[in-house]
Amino acid sequence: MLLLKHCKSLTRVGPLKTLRHLRVAPPTSLGAVHLWRSNSEEQRSQRVHNPSWKHGLAGLLAGAGAVLAYGLYHSKAEQAATITVQTVGKESHLPIFTQEEVSKHRSMEDGVWVTYKGSVYDITQFVAMHPGGDKILLAAGGALEPFWALYAVHSQDHVLDILSEYKVGELSAEDQQRQQAVEPSDPYSSDPDRHPVLRINSLKPFNAETPPELLSDNYITPSAIFFKRNHLPVPHVDPALYRLHVDGLPGGILTLSLDDLKTQFPKHTITVTLQCAGNRRSEMNEVKQVKGLNWGIAAISNATWAGARLRDVLLAAGYRPDMAQWAHHVQFEGLDKDVTGTTYGASIPLNKAVSEEGDVLLAYEMNGEDLPADHGYPVRVIVPGTVGARNVKWLGKIIVSADESSSHWQQNDYKGFSPGTDWDTVDFKSAPAIQELPVQSAITQPTGGSTVDRSSEEVTVKGYAWSGGGREVVRVDVSLDGGKTWQVAQLRSSDKEQTPTPSPPPGQAWAWKLWELTAPIPAEAQELEIVCKAVDNSYNTQPDSVAPIWNLRGVLSNAWHRVKVKVREDE
Ligand code: MTE
Repeated sequence: MLLLKHCKSLTRVGPLKTLRHLRVAPPTSLGAVHLWRSNSEEQRSQRVHNPSWKHGLAGLLAGAGAVLAYGLYHSKAEQAATITVQTVGKESHLPIFTQEEVSKHRSMEDGVWVTYKGSVYDITQFVAMHPGGDKILLAAGGALEPFWALYAVHSQDHVLDILSEYKVGELSAEDQQRQQAVEPSDPYSSDPDRHPVLRINSLKPFNAETPPELLSDNYITPSAIFFKRNHLPVPHVDPALYRLHVDGLPGGILTLSLDDLKTQFPKHTITVTLQCAGNRRSEMNEVKQVKGLNWGIAAISNATWAGARLRDVLLAAGYRPDMAQWAHHVQFEGLDKDVTGTTYGASIPLNKAVSEEGDVLLAYEMNGEDLPADHGYPVRVIVPGTVGARNVKWLGKIIVSADESSSHWQQNDYKGFSPGTDWDTVDFKSAPAIQELPVQSAITQPTGGSTVDRSSEEVTVKGYAWSGGGREVVRVDVSLDGGKTWQVAQLRSSDKEQTPTPSPPPGQAWAWKLWELTAPIPAEAQELEIVCKAVDNSYNTQPDSVAPIWNLRGVLSNAWHRVKVKVREDE
């Protein structure tokens, strides 16, 4: 609709015929373009300087993860795009540009132009507002289709509406034909099959969480329902051809095959909980819209991982302690790539990577089997106690360096900010990359909105608790009355309910604890507000509410978890 409105306002530009012959030389002699732009420019700059519009937009895109019942949206959005573009083709009187002309607009100085389904868009003013950051510049001067095929979150009606606001012309018929001839194939077509019980946050790339009520059923999460967080298509790696390169050390590059990793280094097995920085983001969204996939409480899971110690591999590659004078970080590069060939990447501090107690693994097994494709087959990094984002999957390269990874996900994502910081003021350079995560707990049973029977007299509450940096959870407090009174839950570190497991060595509590409390249903209560909070062995505990820790990216969401359930009185 927006597009149609916009086009109507453009009909005064002049007959299509005239413009078809107009060759517009960008950027200075955009005579015709300026003619019609002057009309819309004012409205557009109003929008740009109107924060509520801007936030609305960021919010819209932030909700994108939640929106993706993708198949439905995709087909609806595609249909909408086709209809609007066809309508434009018939009615609009916009200038025609060649691909060569579009290609000249690849920077903020020259303007950022893109094409989509035969239309040309000047998105220069949108770049600063793009929720995915300046990655949008990768598409500058060319077609959006290959990027949107990769980041399917864009294939929604409101994204097309936003794009339509920036339309400046049509792509020449010859160039449209040329583009159609190279229609991108679906980069996700060979992604693996997934368990149908997973709660999908986005299909392409695939992001899904375990249903919360299943999460605390198993101390070790079965791999099939372990949460999955992919930024890109799953790469297919032939194990026979797989090579891991270790670079940055004076001895030159060490290259290892999968077999080398398995046979030349001792196999080390540890149980480690992985948690995504965005776990429980949906609670931040309830305070104020944030940007990112709308994760519930289950972007966290626990598995047993086995592989070679990173420390052993670095020592084999020539690492010596005196190198810590110049080397401060260990960078990881995945084999998953975007259309420009840019790989997923992250880094961790060198001292974590080389310390004997750090337990960083180059894992080739998960829960006693080869890593599943979604979890990094054939090799991934497991960085215990550290945010999921640094646990790089499909590991291709390790680089010992003076610098952090330059990856988007290290520099411009996965960082925390003040609740007062917004998309106008945020400076990603000002905040450190998240490494260790804060103490966390959540209620997995009962689920919000469910009912307990008064006749059962008792309610059983279950959940998980974990803390970053190897800090051990020592207590979980549970309240049935919104935090007025508290009881201590029973903790366990294995599937065997009765057997107490010994504490891990100090600083090496890498795995979560499951907890449970059975308590009488308070007399008179018609509704229970069940709350949990965990305490770790540094006596860190969770904040009581979300608002003071709200941040624009919706990360580090660890407030007391609250679940309301109704009490059904006897009939
Ligand atoms: N590694 C690569 N190569 N590509 C990715 O998209 N996602 C990261 C991390 N490692 C990612 C990656 C993020 S953000 C998280 S939370 C964890 O993997 C999720 O691991 P999982 O999918 O095994 O649960």
